[in-house]
Amino acid sequence: MSNTNINLSEILITEEQIKQRVAELGEQLTAEYQGEELLLVCVLKGSLPFTADLMRAIRLESVYIDFMQVSSYGSGTTTSGEIHIKKDLETDIKGKNVIVVEDIVDTGLTLNRLKAELLKREPKTLKIVSMLDKPSRRKVDMVPDYVGFEVEDKFIVGYGLDVDQKYRHLPYISWVKTE
Ligand code: IMP
Ligand code: MG
Repeated sequence: MSNTNINLSEILITEEQIKQRVAELGEQLTAEYQGEELLLVCVLKGSLPFTADLMRAIRLESVYIDFMQVSSYGSGTTTSGEIHIKKDLETDIKGKNVIVVEDIVDTGLTLNRLKAELLKREPKTLKIVSMLDKPSRRKVDMVPDYVGFEVEDKFIVGYGLDVDQKYRHLPYISWVKTE
């Protein structure tokens, strides 16, 4: 938990830019799921603020939320291909319109596994919305259906994203320099 060597660098995406983009995504989802029920799956912990904002930007009659927590083995700034489900959904998603809400797609390994797992449960539709996308780091073929912002290959924090559990609470998106 010691972060003595971490410096927050400049803000990449401001609170205002996030707000604007989330509103646009909300409008898009509202239009695309007209007359349908929608289940948002918040992938803990990183997508908590994004899910909370996005759900309030969707103007549909029936929006539900549920939570999952998956973990990659090991910690630090790289991701192994192995994940396990630490917390599973309470909802049976069979026949439902499901949108997985993610904070960031980096190598794509986590979502790849998660998507395969959820597809086995036979949802009616399954899409992915990610606040951030780092396509330059991709190791597997994974294209999120909706993306807030594309970012370059930097280690991002804020708006749910952490380094050693720190900085999730920042209302903007920044990056860290590790020395
Ligand atoms: P992936 O499996 O490599 O696509 O990455 C999955 C997870 O790694 C994300 O959901 C984040 O929790 C974490 N992650 C990837 N890149 C970053 C970053 O730049 N900052 C903070 N967490 C990240
Ligand atoms: Mg995550």
